[in-house]
Amino acid sequence: MHLIQEEVNFKAVVQNIYKDVKDIEDKGELASYIPELARIDSKNFGVHISTMDHSNFGVGNCYDKFSIQSIAKVLSLIMAYKILGKKIWERVDVEPSGNAFNSLVQLEAENGIPRNPFINAGALVISDILLSELEHPKEEFLAFVRDIANQPEIDYSSKIAASEKKVGYRNIALCNYIKSLGNIKNEPEDVLDFYFNLCSLEMNCMELSQLFLFLANNGCRISDQHPILTEQQSKRINALMQTCGFYDESGEFAFRVGLPGKSGVGGGIVAVHPDRYAIAVWSPKLNKKGNSYKGMKFLEAFTTESKQSIF
Ligand code: DON
Repeated sequence: MHLIQEEVNFKAVVQNIYKDVKDIEDKGELASYIPELARIDSKNFGVHISTMDHSNFGVGNCYDKFSIQSIAKVLSLIMAYKILGKKIWERVDVEPSGNAFNSLVQLEAENGIPRNPFINAGALVISDILLSELEHPKEEFLAFVRDIANQPEIDYSSKIAASEKKVGYRNIALCNYIKSLGNIKNEPEDVLDFYFNLCSLEMNCMELSQLFLFLANNGCRISDQHPILTEQQSKRINALMQTCGFYDESGEFAFRVGLPGKSGVGGGIVAVHPDRYAIAVWSPKLNKKGNSYKGMKFLEAFTTESKQSIF
């Protein structure tokens, strides 16, 4: 397996595709439903790759921080999974939803058990679990993320969290609805406050690719081999990213890119190739399914040219 990796010149492939994708017309739109995200310069475009053999390479705006939004749902799931173990699957399912990330429609027929932890309904239930389990949820979650990443400067953006909270009608509805069905234990206002904060986490592509590399390493942080998750748990997180990481575009992402990954409406995508690398892309304009337009284009070309997808 390592032989294959050594044969690929990741740097050259990333550089070439970056140049090509930079110049294509961006047919996406900014996530204007969160006012602060509508103010971002849509020309930002960064990529960073971190490999299992400790090489790192980035281009463009790869050191500029952005709002990671739903990418943070992987981190909250990981923290809750570590605490609850497999009991977590009593509160949230592991099936693709085939619906938009903020949809309410399946909840009534499915007794308030969200289809998976990455749609907003599922991430709200995971937030509720963390609220019940942690004494100081915001601080402890942030410390957990900083620790996995080995980056003490990672932080929430109070501006983005407040901006989303102000107009978060859909999430407010979702959280209250799940509460009425019995799968939210805390006060919806507190769950939403925690959720908006976790979505407001800011990172750059370098931090994201380095952080997610442990999922390519059987759940162990690469710098010191410290186990963040067990091998089996790590495999399951990758499986969920593969099947549910892009909402109703998860099939398309598997078809075109062929990697487990997760997107956010800030325009970030992180993707993992188990045993080989993690890669993060940021380009703020989104396609109709809420995933970065150029991010998808870049990753499709990247796995095609490098021949480094899991399929
Ligand atoms: O709850 C929301 O709508 C946002 N804070 C996060 C949604 C998101 O990132 C969907 N991802 N592509």
